Amino acid sequence: MGSHAWTSPDNVTALLRSAVDADLNDIVEIERSSFADPWTEESFRRLLGGHPAIFQVVENPPDFRVAGYVIAFAIGEDAELLNVAVESKFRGRGLAGRMLDAVLIELGGLGVRTAFLEVRESNSAARALYGSRGFIEIGRRRNYYRRPVEDALVMRRILEVAEGDKEKSAGSFADR
Ligand SMILES: CC(C)(COP(=O)(O)OP(=O)(O)OC[C@H]1O[C@@H](n2cnc3c(N)ncnc32)[C@H](O)[C@@H]1OP(=O)(O)O)[C@@H](O)C(=O)NCCC(=O)NCCS
Repeated sequence: MGSHAWTSPDNVTALLRSAVDADLNDIVEIERSSFADPWTEESFRRLLGGHPAIFQVVENPPDFRVAGYVIAFAIGEDAELLNVAVESKFRGRGLAGRMLDAVLIELGGLGVRTAFLEVRESNSAARALYGSRGFIEIGRRRNYYRRPVEDALVMRRILEVAEGDKEKSAGSFADR
């Protein structure tokens, strides 16, 4: 996936691009301020470099430092959304939604049919984000998270079938 820019209704342009080594400090800072049980720098480093991991960052004005990131992992027709976060001062501007849109399009292009994720039951912002992008709850993993211990809800989104494959499947948007 190349980079691409969006302009929001209030005329703020943000840039989505692949993550590189030099982004890791910013990413780890956002991760630590976003999660009680954050990933380590090494966990992020292992996912740099492309397929099967999709690892994108969004840069935002005024300084165009990393404002958020999204990571997904594709295996055959299934994918898992592994992580998404936006720095607190940039939340509520549509950045996570647009990152997710871009990743879902890229996954569809890779032949993925179904995307899964887990989310803390209490994380209403993330649940709203995923719901807004067509994910539905399909199950629960008891005591899945630590610090604090909490159930995960499992969510799933069936992806649109690529243009050339339409005649092979009538099942697009099955969950929407
Ligand atoms: C969850 C998170 C990534 C959302 O990022 P964001 O950039 O603020 O989200 P967006 O502005 O793109 O919002 C996307 C959608 O989610 C909804 N949403 C986002 N935050 C919300 C909140 N606090 N309450 C209700 N709905 C919310 C928006 O209404 C929006 O829906 P719409 O597109 O239909 O208008 C951000 O709050 C975050 O980084 N949280 C900490 C890390 C985290 O919990 N990650 C998810 C782990 S599973």
